[in-house]
Amino acid sequence: MPPTPAQGTAATVSTSVISPQEYDTFRRFLEEASGIVLGDNKHYLVTSRLNRLTEEFGFASLGELLEALRQGRDRRLQERVVDAMTTNETSWFRDGYPYEMLRNSILPELAQRKVNPLRIWSAASSTGQEAYSISMVVHEFQKANPGALPGRVEIVGTDISASVVRQAREGKYDDLSMARGLSPERKAAFFTDSGDGGWVVRPEIRARTRFTELNLLKSYALLGRFEIIFCRNVLIYFSGELKRDILDRMAQVLNPGGYLFLGGSETPSGYSRAYEMVRFPEGVVYRKKD
Ligand SMILES: C[S@@+](CC[C@H](N)C(=O)[O-])C[C@H]1O[C@@H](n2cnc3c(N)ncnc32)[C@H](O)[C@@H]1O
Repeated sequence: MPPTPAQGTAATVSTSVISPQEYDTFRRFLEEASGIVLGDNKHYLVTSRLNRLTEEFGFASLGELLEALRQGRDRRLQERVVDAMTTNETSWFRDGYPYEMLRNSILPELAQRKVNPLRIWSAASSTGQEAYSISMVVHEFQKANPGALPGRVEIVGTDISASVVRQAREGKYDDLSMARGLSPERKAAFFTDSGDGGWVVRPEIRARTRFTELNLLKSYALLGRFEIIFCRNVLIYFSGELKRDILDRMAQVLNPGGYLFLGGSETPSGYSRAYEMVRFPEGVVYRKKD
């Protein structure tokens, strides 16, 4: 009788399901490497994503891949595994209100304070939509208020995943991504048709952005200081202890009076005393206490 795919043979890759013990070991690895806490019921997800990498890296079984991870000698394997386990879900102008608040309330205040340079950090930037949306708002603000922001504006996008950072740098999107949150006016104003089914962010929007790999568990010292941090829809994956650590360390790179944008279901309350909640007409944001 031919072997079932689950049994495999000496010559083929086994697509076995992860055992409870292997799952626990993997959970510990992932949390140490990225902060991401896997729930108790993600066996199927882990199995399917790791089986793909088992094949790609030429291991005979999932067990072999896990053993190689445990030994920790192959950095590329570790990076690819973390990459495979991250959720990169994002969209243009996600949730709307942070970008309205930026344009109507925060940029006018920073312009009045003559902040220069104005540096903004998109701390889990995924494929770049968040950082480019910020850059579009800055562009629109500058056009409507010539000279109000006379200094340099820089938007730094960072993410743990090398593949999304590459995509963000490329600044090229397919029709499906373009359909998520972008108005026809902004699409016409800020993108050019690449001619091969893609849309490329225009140079004047890209010019004030840069993207680099950064694990939020590691030091932020090389990034410099910021007036605004967008850290949206990533803290939800971390333990309370890590949330506390990340929020406190972000406060250290925020200038006094600087703003922190979190995702709709995220809050510093209960984790960090470095921020106060500020309510603008568009919604809530957190400000670093002086
Ligand atoms: C759901 S996306 C959010 C993207 C964007 N901020 C938004 O709100 O649309 C979460 C991102 O966090 C990144 N991420 C997960 N763990 C990370 C870590 N330890 N350091 C940096 N980025 C991380 C993932 O790679 C992913 O791109």
